[in-house]
Amino acid sequence: MPYRLTVIGTGYLGITHAACMADLGFDVLGLDIDADKIRRLNNGELPIHEPGLEAVLRRGLESGRLRFTTSYEEVGAFGDVHFVCVGTPQKQGEYAADVSYMDAAIESLAPYLGRECLVVGKSTVPVGTAGRLADKLARLAPDGVQPELAWNPEFLREGFAVKDTLNPDRIVIGVRSERAEKVLREVYQPLGEVPIVVTDFATAELVKTAANAFLATKISFINAMAEVCEAAHADVKQLSEALSYDDRIGGRFLNAGLGFGGGCLPKDIRAFMARAGELGADQALTFLREVDAINMRRRARMVDLARELAGGSFQGCTVGVLGAAFKPNSDDIRDSPALDVAVTIGHQGGQVTVYDPIALDNARKAHPELRYGASALEAVRGANVVLLLTEWPEFVELDPEVLGQAVATRKIVDGRNALNAETWRSAGWHYRALGRP
Ligand SMILES: NC(=O)c1ccc[n+]([C@@H]2O[C@H](COP(=O)([O-])OP(=O)(O)OC[C@H]3O[C@@H](n4cnc5c(N)ncnc54)[C@H](O)[C@@H]3O)[C@@H](O)[C@H]2O)c1
Repeated sequence: MPYRLTVIGTGYLGITHAACMADLGFDVLGLDIDADKIRRLNNGELPIHEPGLEAVLRRGLESGRLRFTTSYEEVGAFGDVHFVCVGTPQKQGEYAADVSYMDAAIESLAPYLGRECLVVGKSTVPVGTAGRLADKLARLAPDGVQPELAWNPEFLREGFAVKDTLNPDRIVIGVRSERAEKVLREVYQPLGEVPIVVTDFATAELVKTAANAFLATKISFINAMAEVCEAAHADVKQLSEALSYDDRIGGRFLNAGLGFGGGCLPKDIRAFMARAGELGADQALTFLREVDAINMRRRARMVDLARELAGGSFQGCTVGVLGAAFKPNSDDIRDSPALDVAVTIGHQGGQVTVYDPIALDNARKAHPELRYGASALEAVRGANVVLLLTEWPEFVELDPEVLGQAVATRKIVDGRNALNAETWRSAGWHYRALGRP
């Protein structure tokens, strides 16, 4: 009999996992403590923006294989395998991750586990969490019931979440028994040939943080080169192109610009440093402090460049900001470099109007103090400076002539090195970019 799956925590990760597993043929019950989110999901309404996911969600609901609830009792009774996908944000005022949602999920679920089952952590957690939660699970489960824990970190990328879930490049499973390994191999069997790396708990937890630390380092490496290029009047775009032909280096994650943000990389590298400190291995990760600092300096540099173009001060200056999401094809504004820059310029006296194709509602809720335009043209109307901060395709394709007629002065800072400098300059724009002359 195929396993019945539950997915606890239906955010960017959980909704995708639940809907895709239902698409693969499993009966899936999703749970969240946010009742409004659950109501919307049961109505086939996606509470986030993720390309292709709404169709998979609706297909699941229509097939009868996918449902959502707020009842842990129902989830406990339903599932053979429970995937835990709750948030693990950065703690307020600290580098460490807040794993209290993870603990809360285990505490809520354990008393309702009535039979043999596997609880699988998918969230990104500090190494050591899985071992601690396994003890907690065993302690809180009803007498005579012995649920087992496994760790199965998730590598999906927002914007490509469905594809990444159905065609993962690898699956990592941290287990303490052959039975747990067998169950997870069966669950992922419909995905076909995918490399599966079986590890202990600690290694599985670390693979995820190590992957994010590597990606963050690669981005900050090229952004550090951009800083040097700025000082030496060199061109980081040409530099990264030349580096990318070396297949030991590769071109991905090598685009200099405003740096990384979002709900994962920044908080994950900070949590990694905090955890290494607790383990007495902090020296091993001191370089991540620099990775973080380089990344944050790009935002400051962006503000400086914009101020320079504004004539030395933002007082009385109108700034049109293109982009609010932390990256294109997402509505996620968590630690978004674009919004960070927009807010800082606002604080420094600039009249900022922001436009984003998808993330406007989220941005408006988080930053009601900013102005928002209904289109790119509206956001830049009358602007003294335009900033491109998220490389949405519709911004990359903007016609410099059409935009030029809307602005007060043709000045643009390309925070993502996404535009063709020559095209914009020949349309009369003063074009500046990070890391380029
Ligand atoms: N978003 C991504 O691209 C991505 C990729 C890989 C890994 N991750 C990791 O996955 C985890 C979840 O990330 P996310 O982006 O989906 O976060 P999210 O904030 O979008 O979703 C988390 C969900 O958990 C729910 N929740 C909180 N406490 C709960 C509880 N006690 N019981 C049930 N539900 C609860 C929240 O209401 C929310 O809907 C994080 O650890 C993150 O680092 C995320």
